[in-house]
Amino acid sequence: MKTILVTGGCGFIGSNFVRLLATTTDYRIVNFDKLTYAGNLENVADIDPTRMRFIQGDICDRELVERILGEEKPWALVNFAAESHVDRSILDSTPFLHNNIGGVQALLEAVRRVGVERFLHISTDEVYGDKEGKAPSNEESGLAPSSPYSASKAAADLLCFSYRRTYGLPIVITRSSNNYGPYQFPEKLIPLLLRNGLAGLDFPVYGDGQQIRDWIHVEDNCRGLLAVLERGQLGSIYNIGTSEERTNLAVVETICRAIAAHQGVDAEQITARIRYVTDRPGHDRRYALDTSKVRNELDWAPQVDFPSGLQRTVDWYLSHVDWVGRVTSGEYRKYYESVYTQSWGKSS
Ligand code: NAD
Ligand code: TYD
Repeated sequence: MKTILVTGGCGFIGSNFVRLLATTTDYRIVNFDKLTYAGNLENVADIDPTRMRFIQGDICDRELVERILGEEKPWALVNFAAESHVDRSILDSTPFLHNNIGGVQALLEAVRRVGVERFLHISTDEVYGDKEGKAPSNEESGLAPSSPYSASKAAADLLCFSYRRTYGLPIVITRSSNNYGPYQFPEKLIPLLLRNGLAGLDFPVYGDGQQIRDWIHVEDNCRGLLAVLERGQLGSIYNIGTSEERTNLAVVETICRAIAAHQGVDAEQITARIRYVTDRPGHDRRYALDTSKVRNELDWAPQVDFPSGLQRTVDWYLSHVDWVGRVTSGEYRKYYESVYTQSWGKSS
């Protein structure tokens, strides 16, 4: 039975990927996670313990990663570990450069010394930058990151390919669009709206709300990641997305209607809580992906349409109010005030 080392497997996408591995494959899983504010052991509490070993550790700690690689001899390493929220990178880019670039360099070095057969690095469509008025990005499109977060992800991608060319490492990279679904930390748009909706708070919309994103259900992304891991060409990049574009305002209104239906009140009562707030600095207006490569080469296609995926997500958050409460205790309040009350850390 092959082992897969999953780094960042207690975060949003990582925990969903671990769940996919545990429920649909025979792989043994080693879940290596630092457990930052975004990582939570509760996210993998349902995973059969005979299938997964958990190790609390930092990808920046090359010696520890090397020791685990030596001990476990995994077939593959899948790297989800990162600081992942654009807004936090605007408040302070330091942990982004440290973990997203330094951490990837440490992983690459460890792999160079010990070896794995496949190294799947999880990147993002945000490395292509703002696509307003432009054609969707394919895998050959240039990198034009706008935020410290996306710049750190682009740097890591380049570093990965430099290790492929220089040392022949078995690198493959995925760049997905915006994920949504269960276990997403309530700082990203959809879970933040749901958390606020349940708490009777306002719904903050940056700028005019006409920014466009391509939303993918996390389970569809994870199926794509598994296909790339098992069958993707080494040295290749695969975009993963639905190519269905929605404005943020359309997403916010859909969520308001779902909350209204749940609470048995008129939608207008809930949409009245939409608040236009100070825009995110450097905000990308549109992300758009050409995903023909993963569809044609690996026969992948999304299976979850947005209305039903969103309804399932709403239901999940409604039935996990305690989880939301636990993960947003502590430093979350300070973060929330910096962005939403003090307008990006400046006094208003
Ligand atoms: P997340 O913030 O929910 O989880 C990140 C996980 O990584 C957490 O469990 C955290 O504890 C862990 N981690 C962070 N730094 C670490 C370190 N130094 N060592 C070990 N573990 C560490 O993030 P996510 O939304 O699940 O994103 C996972 C990956 O997918 C990231 O690389 C992100 O850039 C990428 N991505 C995310 C999206 C999205 O919509 N969420 C879209 C495209 C790509
Ligand atoms: P987000 O979930 O942070 O993902 P990304 O910035 O990586 O695309 O945000 C999705 C979109 O929603 C983005 O255009 C920013 C916007 N947004 C708001 O309007 N209000 C909010 O409170 C948040 C968190 C995001």
